[in-house]
Amino acid sequence: MRTTVKSIIEKYNNDKTRLMDILIDVQKEFGFIPDEAVEVIAEGCGLSKVDVNQTLSFYHFFTKKPVGEYAVYLNNSAVAEMKGFASVAKAFEEEAGCAFGEVTEDGKIGLHETACIGMSDQEPAAIINNVVFTNLTPAKVKEIVGQMKAGKDVKEMISAKGDGKNANELINAEVFNNIRKKGEVIFSDYEIGTALKKLGTMNPEEVIDEVKASYVRGRGGAGFPTGLKWEFCRKSEGTRYVLCNADEGEPGTFKERVILTEVPKLLFEGMAVCGYAIGSKVGILYLRYEYKYLEAYLENVLAEMRASNLLGKNIQGIEGFDFDVRIQFGGGAYVCGEESALIESAEGKRGEPRNRPPFPVQKGYMDSPTVVNNVETLCSIVKIMNKGSEWFTMMGSRESAGTKLLSISGDCKYPGVYEIEWGLRVRDMLEMVGAEDVQAVQVGGPSGVMIGPKDFKRTICFEDLPTGGSIMIFNNERKLIEDVVTNFTDFFIEESCGSCVPCRAITVLLRQRLQKIIDGNGVMSDIDELKDWAEKLKVANRCGLGQTAGAPVLTTIENFRDKYEALVQKDIDFDSGFDLEASVQASCAFVDRTPNL
Ligand SMILES: Cc1cc2nc3c(=O)[nH]c(=O)nc-3n(C[C@H](O)[C@H](O)[C@H](O)COP(=O)(O)O)c2cc1C
Repeated sequence: MRTTVKSIIEKYNNDKTRLMDILIDVQKEFGFIPDEAVEVIAEGCGLSKVDVNQTLSFYHFFTKKPVGEYAVYLNNSAVAEMKGFASVAKAFEEEAGCAFGEVTEDGKIGLHETACIGMSDQEPAAIINNVVFTNLTPAKVKEIVGQMKAGKDVKEMISAKGDGKNANELINAEVFNNIRKKGEVIFSDYEIGTALKKLGTMNPEEVIDEVKASYVRGRGGAGFPTGLKWEFCRKSEGTRYVLCNADEGEPGTFKERVILTEVPKLLFEGMAVCGYAIGSKVGILYLRYEYKYLEAYLENVLAEMRASNLLGKNIQGIEGFDFDVRIQFGGGAYVCGEESALIESAEGKRGEPRNRPPFPVQKGYMDSPTVVNNVETLCSIVKIMNKGSEWFTMMGSRESAGTKLLSISGDCKYPGVYEIEWGLRVRDMLEMVGAEDVQAVQVGGPSGVMIGPKDFKRTICFEDLPTGGSIMIFNNERKLIEDVVTNFTDFFIEESCGSCVPCRAITVLLRQRLQKIIDGNGVMSDIDELKDWAEKLKVANRCGLGQTAGAPVLTTIENFRDKYEALVQKDIDFDSGFDLEASVQASCAFVDRTPNL
């Protein structure tokens, strides 16, 4: 084992900042990360065992115990639950003969739950040994587990191939993309390399001015003006970096997966334009581990671009314009989408958000000036360069220029990716996707807002309903509090990095109080207390995860208060919530006495 681990470390030049890659390779080689490997990694990279252990313990897909020869990661998001997660999970347990969180005695099959895997339009879905299985049913599970027991390679399994859809429809990376609407920016035709050629006639400041004039804002959710970000970075001293955020962890979003499989060259060209503008030679695509199956395909695209001088040295004959991209995989952690956590992770550490200031544009990757941009933002840049900022500002709404990709899932006839102009009314969006009898729409994923019909006249744009693109639709049969708010809150509990106490603790208190209400033991004051705690989360945490972890509770109390009131006891205003019997149970058991209250 030592020799294998040593050769893995050597592949990464014994560089401790490549710890994520080393752990990924070791996990792949042995199916887990043995203690002995931790020792070898620590020695080889000049780290302590604690350093290695603290990174590996942070990520969902790194384990110290075997995960099974066939490691099934079944998505447990709210949409997956709506589409049959429970029956599929039960079928896996029955067929495999072990429970979720366990591995069969022979070590063959491991069952694990995981957060959204970017397939919300094709749920229930699972990743098995880096192959995606979609639209699962108990019957399909039976077939898949049968094939596992027979030792079949996952790639050979019939159900891996897009659940019977025509194999030709499957885009290069073995997933099916439901692109329902192509718009003028991301999915319009273009000639690869045109933006790069144009750079020969512009200096970096002129490029930044053009980006500023387009008013393009970040597509990752926060909407920061991209041109300004680039300008700040260019003005900071030091080796500069371009980091593309493809973490795509917000439940319900899958547009990055679609861009990466459909138009990856658009993205890499956008990264190179950014490199030219800010004066950076190094681009890193930070890609979530859930998309590991895209690796070979994307590496191939990068190789093609190098061969066509779209990446590499003196790009398109522009003297001194050198830029290349490497892919950095994460290890499974939603918080790593937060830009400073992403940087920590890309440096081989736990994905814990940094204090700001300093901002990444001043002190980011390797403590150097860094632009972190979303995949879609960087793609938009190429079209802005090709067609001009004025063309771009003609689309969209007052404060939101251009188009936006929406990942739409849930109760609608046509789930998938839609490129719309900013400013689309929610009502029109619902009609476009064939949604009827709609009770609620979740705009922006669990960290966004849940709105009801009175708000369907509102528009999707930064000045009204901003979103990174996740849209989930719930019809009138769905139980919003019992099934959706609890699922979202569980997600935040699971994904909190734990460094801010309110994020770590209040989320759990919220979940317990929700359960009290759902169990019929709630009173009116519980609703107010829930609201109060959720408000505190907004101000008492360091990063956006903690600040929005109360959003499912807050926005449903605001827009669906009647649903909470229907669940609580109206005749009691207040109860302490203290269950005397439950609290003395442990001590009574200890002295072998039954509580006698
Ligand atoms: C918990 C959390 C998760 C995030 N996840 C993502 C993500 O997956 N992709 C993304 O582009 N931005 C994500 N963001 C926003 C980033 O911090 C950052 O604003 C963005 O990458 C900047 O790029 P943009 O300006 O092009 O949008 C997340 C933020 C938080 C707080």
